[in-house]
This record gives sequence, structure tokens and C-alpha cells, in this order.
Amino acid sequence: MQNFTYHNPTKLHFGKGQLSQLTDELSNFGQNILLVYGGGSIKRNGLYDQVIDILNKENKEIFELSGVEPNPRVTTARKGVDICHKESIDFILAVGGGSTIDCTKAIAAGAKSEADIWDIVTKKEQVTGALPFGTVLTLAATGSEMNPGSVITNWETKEKHGWGSPYTYPVFSILDPAFTKSVPKNQTVYGIVDIMSHALEHYFHHEENTILQDRMVEGILKTVIETAPKLLEDLENETYRATILYNGTMALNGMVSMGYHGDWATHNLEHAVSAVHDIPHGGGLAILFPNWMKYSIDENIDRFKQLAIRLFDVEPEGKSDKEIGLEGIDRLRAFWNSIDAPAALDDYDITEDSIEEMADRTVTAKPEFGNFKSLNREDAIAIYKASL
Ligand code: NZQ
Ligand code: ZN
Repeated sequence: MQNFTYHNPTKLHFGKGQLSQLTDELSNFGQNILLVYGGGSIKRNGLYDQVIDILNKENKEIFELSGVEPNPRVTTARKGVDICHKESIDFILAVGGGSTIDCTKAIAAGAKSEADIWDIVTKKEQVTGALPFGTVLTLAATGSEMNPGSVITNWETKEKHGWGSPYTYPVFSILDPAFTKSVPKNQTVYGIVDIMSHALEHYFHHEENTILQDRMVEGILKTVIETAPKLLEDLENETYRATILYNGTMALNGMVSMGYHGDWATHNLEHAVSAVHDIPHGGGLAILFPNWMKYSIDENIDRFKQLAIRLFDVEPEGKSDKEIGLEGIDRLRAFWNSIDAPAALDDYDITEDSIEEMADRTVTAKPEFGNFKSLNREDAIAIYKASL
């Protein structure tokens, strides 16, 4: 375990009825609020009206940026920055999933910078501050509600990059499982895969003495594997929704990854697929992760063996360590198949023709990526080919 300093300033309000906390939270900020949301799910499930009611009661001046896309575009974030400047916005409220929150982070940082947002996303320019913002989360997946990360797409250059700064933690996040009940089955599956993938990205590292961290990451994976099938049979069940929602936050708020760095190559591989083909993040991860695992197993077979035995109860008797590890990977694929997650690029009509272009996108930021196993463009091609 390496030395670390942990500080997460996001205040989390979790559970039924917690939207009422919005009143107190907003009292700390000025009058002009920018409300950011997606393509309309919050209007259909009634959350929009509830939020507007609270804002009106607090006599806030409300400005809106709607239509944030899944895989949010830099062009949309720029529109938000313009509103912030024109209307002297004091506080931004994101109501939606990870895309709405990530876009809000870009707006918040962009509003306090002379630089264009894309230069911030591509790290040409430093983040020097951000407008304060809070979130009301409606989809369990990214962990963006309690981390400083943001992933933004530039559709003109077909690039999608993650970035973040100490300024881009939400001030508060409100998580009521009831607001996630309307998430359709396929998006629920993508969220489940994303949460598990964050745990898996953490799990593959070479650091020693991460005994508690390993158990916490395994705890997330086990809980999701137990709960997901029940939730998918009963999408309106608030108890199962709450379990998955809490797991999503814990998987990527830094709590289980203190003192080591996970791999994160699969996220880079997936972002390149989404950048070129605009597919759901969780769908891409379900296709790629088992193939990355098979490609990387020789890097440290013990990690794969430990995961297989602890997570999937693989019987070790009479098998080599590698056979045990490979069986664990097969069990992961079988689990994702059982919840109808995509398993091949072909599921999104992605063919061999675009592999070169996607591989180019994996190395636009750096020629090599992945902390557990360092990959280059050729490795990306091999993993994409195995994923067709
Ligand atoms: O846009 P609306 O109408 O709201 O509909 C959304 C969208 O179509 C819908 N949805 C959300 N809440 C709903 C709902 N539909 C019905 N009822 C509700 N309660 O779901 C669709 C997907 O929403 P989106 O926000 O795109 O999903 P998600 O939360 O999975 O976010 C995905 C984005 O986050 C990035 C991904 O790359 C992708 O761009 N990530 C962000 C991370 C971070 N900031 O830490 C880490 C992740 O690894 C990930 O890369
Ligand atoms: Zn993810």
C-alpha cells in the first residue's frame, strides 16, 4: 500500500425523501441557478416539477440547459458556459445521470476560466476554479455524483476524454432510489456493468498489502452480482434500487481505492469505441472487459485466481492457476450474458472496418495506457479484434 491522503468534500444525502435537503443546501448560494438536465426523463418521472417547486419556494432565479446527451458533447457544455457568463450564474444544479453531471462539471470549470472547455478536457489548460454545483442523481452507474471526474466527447474530432480537478467535486449530491425506478431495463444493465467495471479496474494492480481494499472491492462485486438479477426482475423495487445506487457511489468515490492505482485501460478502450460509435458506456465495457482480462492474465495470474475463487467460488482442485483465472473470466462473461449485457462489438454493428480508427483514439492522449498492463495501439487492435 502506498502513502495516500484522502479528502472527499462532497456531502452525500442518501435515501427516500432526501430531496428535501435541497432547500437547506441552496440557502448557502446566490440567487441565479442554472438547472442542467438531459433529454427529458426528469420531466416524464415528475422529478423536474419537484425540483422547480423547491427552487421557486426559495425564490431562486432559474435558468435552464436541457438536452445534455448521453456521452455529453463539448458543444453542449459551451452553451452552459455562455449562460453562466450572460446570466451571472451563482450555482449549477445537475439533475440526471452521469452525463448530465459530467457536463455540469465542464460548465462549472469553463465558467471560471478564460480557456475553451476542450483545452481543459484535453489538459492543455489547467483548471483554476469552478462554479459551485450540486447534483440530484437519477441513474446508478458512474459515481460522478461523488468524484471529481468528468468524461466529455468532441463529436467533430471523434474524441472522448476523462479529466478532473480538485475543484470539480459536487458540493452535495442527493440520491433517492425512487428517482432511479424509471431507468429502463437496458440502461439499468449498463449501469450495473459500469459499477462492476469500476470495481474491476481497481482490482487489477501490482501493489502489495491491499487486503482490506481487495475485500471492499470484492464486496461491491458480490453485492451487485447478488442484487442485479433481482432488480432486473423487479425494476420498481426501491430496496434493490437503493443497494445498486449505493454500490455505484462507493465503487468510484475513492473509498475502496486508497493506497494503490487500478488499471483503467478498459475504460480508455471503451471511451475510444464510444467516441467513434456513440454507444452506451456500460454496453462497451461489457464487451471489452473479459477480453482485456484474457489479454492481461499473464501479467499477474494470482490476481485473476484470487478473483475467480473469491467472487465466483471457482473450484481450484486439479486446475492450474491460469485455468482457475480463466474460469473466473468465463463466469464473469456468463453473468453479464445472463443479464443481457452486450457481448460483442457486432451487437452494435461495429465491424473490423473501424478498428484502426478506434485504436487511434486510444492513444490520442498518451502512446501507452493501463497501469496494471501497459498497452499500446497494437494491443488495442488485438483486444478489439477479440471483441468483434
Ligand atoms: O437524458 P435523459 O432523458 O435524462 O435520459 C437518460 C439517458 O438517455 C436516461 N436516464 C437517466 N436517468 C433516468 C433515465 N431514464 C429514465 N429514468 C431515469 N431516472 O439514461 C440515459 C443514459 O444517461 P447517462 O447520464 O448518459 O448515463 P450514465 O449515468 O451511465 O453516464 C454515462 C456517461 O458517464 C461517463 C461515461 O463515459 C458516459 O459518458 N462516465 C463518467 C464517469 C465519471 N464522471 O466518473 C466514470 C465512468 O466510468 C464513465 O466513463
Ligand atoms: Zn465507467
